[in-house]
Amino acid sequence: MQAIRGTKDIMSPEIYTWQYIEHIISILTNQFGYSEIRTPIFESIDVFKRTIGENTDVVGKEMYTFPDKGGDILTLRPEATASVVRAAVQHNITAQQQLSRVWYNGPFFRYERPQKGRQRQFHQFGAELLCAASAEADIEIISLAYTFLQKLGISSSVLSINTLATPQVRSIYRSVLLDYFQSNINKLSEDSQKRLVHNPLRILDSKNPDDKLIAANAPKLLDYLDDESTIHFDKVCEYLTRLNIPFIQQSTLVRGLDYYSHTVFEFTSNALGSQDALGGGGRYNHLFEQFGGKNTPSIGFAFGIERLIIAMNAHGFLPDTINPDYYIIGFESNDARFKAIQTAHIIRTTTNNIVITDVQNRSLKAQMKDADKHNAQFAIIIGPEEADKSECIVKNLKEGTQQIFPLDTFLSSLR
Ligand code: HAM
Repeated sequence: MQAIRGTKDIMSPEIYTWQYIEHIISILTNQFGYSEIRTPIFESIDVFKRTIGENTDVVGKEMYTFPDKGGDILTLRPEATASVVRAAVQHNITAQQQLSRVWYNGPFFRYERPQKGRQRQFHQFGAELLCAASAEADIEIISLAYTFLQKLGISSSVLSINTLATPQVRSIYRSVLLDYFQSNINKLSEDSQKRLVHNPLRILDSKNPDDKLIAANAPKLLDYLDDESTIHFDKVCEYLTRLNIPFIQQSTLVRGLDYYSHTVFEFTSNALGSQDALGGGGRYNHLFEQFGGKNTPSIGFAFGIERLIIAMNAHGFLPDTINPDYYIIGFESNDARFKAIQTAHIIRTTTNNIVITDVQNRSLKAQMKDADKHNAQFAIIIGPEEADKSECIVKNLKEGTQQIFPLDTFLSSLR
């Protein structure tokens, strides 16, 4: 049997890169004062359907939705923002308009065509800053995302940002855009022709070369902004510049989820191929109302871990492997082998040292080779002679020196 297409077993050595990323996430989120939230892997379909948008690809084509035995219609979460907002409303987290900073890291599910950097089960690290309408909040979230990439050594990513303004502005712009695309309908790709009525903004970031030509000359949302949107966006751009966080303003960046307004952003990397988005996010000022909550302007982002790893590998990242402190070798007699097991047992129970010992009754030579392969610091050697005298040979494998000790003396020196 094979793992399902678009899913993956994550094992050594790649797992060390995952653990390194998780380590950085833990340091970074502490630095910024964010606490972890773990929402369920499956939710009612209603959590995602209207909130992400019925005409988005995620809801329209990609959700894993199924009835359970009780007849409830469930969806494997395709993203986290809707779940986080559902949880915040359910637990009254922002009821008194308190600010809340949360992060998450876990598996998500979208039925997409698998390719490099695109899976059906993938993983996201994300953060949400709930109940903060200011441009300063946008800066905190973008700076968190930017710092994360810096800490991972992904220096080549490009940050694009745009504003999707208020729903009122967007609705005026939408009809202008609809007219423009309608007059060019024959030049659009089949996909975009279908999108035209329900989601014309999405055509702006189509990857199809014909669509790109038409989109390049489309009216710009920036020309329709109201004062509120302009002031907010200008401040975000100004603060990014003053913080030396490089970015490009990209008027065609619209993102694929319907809940955004005002600031949206994406980090791309040319190490990725056609699925070039490392992560993205934006402001969602009206999502809480859809869950029956009060107006709670919020902003967040998510990165795809699989794509981060592709980019890290392209930058030559090598995870630290975990090397044993001691490789305990017992050979030839049962007594010697038992004393090796016992020595390993005592070191593990009385210290935090990393200890490997042989379980295949191999020869001294084979075990020495294995100790080298594991890159151990010391080999502790117990043959029949050492076992009789309750001694051990302590060999420093890095320096090539060795010394004989009574086993008790050696063990008590470790505590
Ligand atoms: P998204 O752009 O749909 O945003 O996904 C964020 C990232 O998840 C993408 O940039 C990509 O790296 C990764 N990703 C998405 N789909 C796949 C896939 N099929 N295979 C591998 N990686 C994938 C969101 O999900 C929003 N919830 C982000 C957000 C948080 N906005 C506000 N707060």
